[in-house]
Amino acid sequence: MTDRYAVIGNPIGHTKSPLIHGLFAEVTQQDLVYTAIEGRIGQFAADVDAFRAAGGRGMNVTAPFKLEAFAYATERSPRAQMAGAVNALKFEDGRVIAENFDGVGLTRDVVHNLGCPLKGTRVLVLGAGGAARGALLPFLEQQPATLVIANRTLEKAEALAKEAAAHGPVSACGYADLEGRRFDIVFNATSASLRGELPPVPASVFEPGALAYELAYGKGLTPFLRLARQTGVDRLADGVGMLVEQAAEAFAWWRGVRPETGPVIERLTVPLT
Ligand code: ATR
Repeated sequence: MTDRYAVIGNPIGHTKSPLIHGLFAEVTQQDLVYTAIEGRIGQFAADVDAFRAAGGRGMNVTAPFKLEAFAYATERSPRAQMAGAVNALKFEDGRVIAENFDGVGLTRDVVHNLGCPLKGTRVLVLGAGGAARGALLPFLEQQPATLVIANRTLEKAEALAKEAAAHGPVSACGYADLEGRRFDIVFNATSASLRGELPPVPASVFEPGALAYELAYGKGLTPFLRLARQTGVDRLADGVGMLVEQAAEAFAWWRGVRPETGPVIERLTVPLT
């Protein structure tokens, strides 16, 4: 019987997940269908219950349901616990197992696809919301020399740094404190780009040869990437690789086979111009 998977979110119209998982299923010859479900606000549990009752084996979860998915789960991985949010569910009999592959997907994209090891580097993460939170553990597992979280609301960055402190050399600061400090990799994990805004990061944070990584996907040259380019940074990336890599992690978790990601990333890449 064909196995059923889906992504649930609201709105869900622009999701690339059915395309990505469809391509993965094709190349790995897995017998599955993957659809998009527009979840009803306030009815997340009922919608997931209905999908499971109809034979659903797993789901990806996107905004605004990542916290509800966390609550719905019966078991949560350490990554999901640290992120406080869930982006993938697996249904096995009565169990609902929860994962968060956003951070591992991002790390894999940076280390494997972009050839930029985090080990021993100075890493700056802009933002202290859900996206930053999900990335922290996977980043620290790579043993960077330092990991600084900068946020507009300093207390949020401090709380996050405190939570992750047992896992590596992480600290928090405000944007003004970044004056005079330089980093090898700078991640924009704020939601500023979604509104065409620029976080107030000093242009001097980029070490020559640095990588500037925008977690948002498909927005072209965002104000953050433009700032990096203006300061001479030529290694720019957006979140397309992260999107495809987190999907591959979920696919492997569900199906036991990891698809090749390169051709799918290539197909979805929007030029950074
Ligand atoms: P997400 O799940 O996408 O991370 P979120 O949890 O709402 O979304 O967090 C948004 C992050 O982007 C926060 O760190 C927010 O900063 P504050 O905590 O100070 O609000 C940051 N952010 C949003 N717009 C920003 C802007 N224009 N400049 C700087 N930071 C911004």
